[in-house]
Amino acid sequence: MQVIILKDSDDVANGAAQRIAELLAKKPNAVLGLATGSTPIALYQRLIAMYRAGEVSFRDAVTFNLDEYLGIAPDNRQSYRSFMNEQLFKHIDIDLANTYLPECSQENNPRRVGAAYERRIADAGGIDLQILGIGANGHIGFNEPGSSLGSRTRVKTLTERTVIDNSRMFDAKEFQPRLAITMGIATILEARHILLLAMGEHKATAVHKMTEGPVTAMCPASALQMHRNTALILDEAAASKLEELDYYRWTHLQNEPLVSQYGHFHDL
Ligand code: F6R
Repeated sequence: MQVIILKDSDDVANGAAQRIAELLAKKPNAVLGLATGSTPIALYQRLIAMYRAGEVSFRDAVTFNLDEYLGIAPDNRQSYRSFMNEQLFKHIDIDLANTYLPECSQENNPRRVGAAYERRIADAGGIDLQILGIGANGHIGFNEPGSSLGSRTRVKTLTERTVIDNSRMFDAKEFQPRLAITMGIATILEARHILLLAMGEHKATAVHKMTEGPVTAMCPASALQMHRNTALILDEAAASKLEELDYYRWTHLQNEPLVSQYGHFHDL
């Protein structure tokens, strides 16, 4: 795992946006794995600005989101579909038909959605770059602590902690789902490249555990230690509990010349 520590959340968003633009310049029909939540909002704003400046195009890109709530229609403002449309898709040149979320319509059996979603990802050629945030409890997607490290896309029950963390997005009287469909940990690990972003002190413990703790289902993000191409981009606050800070800064500096010469995606 490569650990990159930047000054603040603007730098994190910028660093991630530059990588996505680099990927799309190299492979215009790249398959992107996307996330919702607070973390990627600044990244999406940056991408929109770069698109408007003619610095990136999504015309041939395909996207797969990590997760979607169960029991909320796509056109509900609380759905992750609405989030993605509002925060990114409607502001860029992506073809909406090429944007996927693990949605489940009312007449469908939610337990069938997972396998169909996985097939769709495989048919698209697999995910080139997966963007992730991390929950304060170490979750990725909605793979809560205890999720199998071999899990595939499926229905998951959110923990009370996640429901409370996400309640800030819902009005008091609004239905807040306790179930979601999420890519599994094994699904995420199949992405060719992974970029996990974390900002703020409230993420510092989870970042420390996933990076320097044991690989364990109790910290789902720790499974990324098994992935061959994962980078974490952190701000100073999210990195504040890491024990090997000096080492990460040192390796980042040593790698810079290679990255400027060959880029991040030499294998694609
Ligand atoms: C979002 C997702 C979640 C979030 C995580 C962090 O699609 O799958 O794992 O990335 O809960 O959320 P924020 O960014 O709101 O702190």
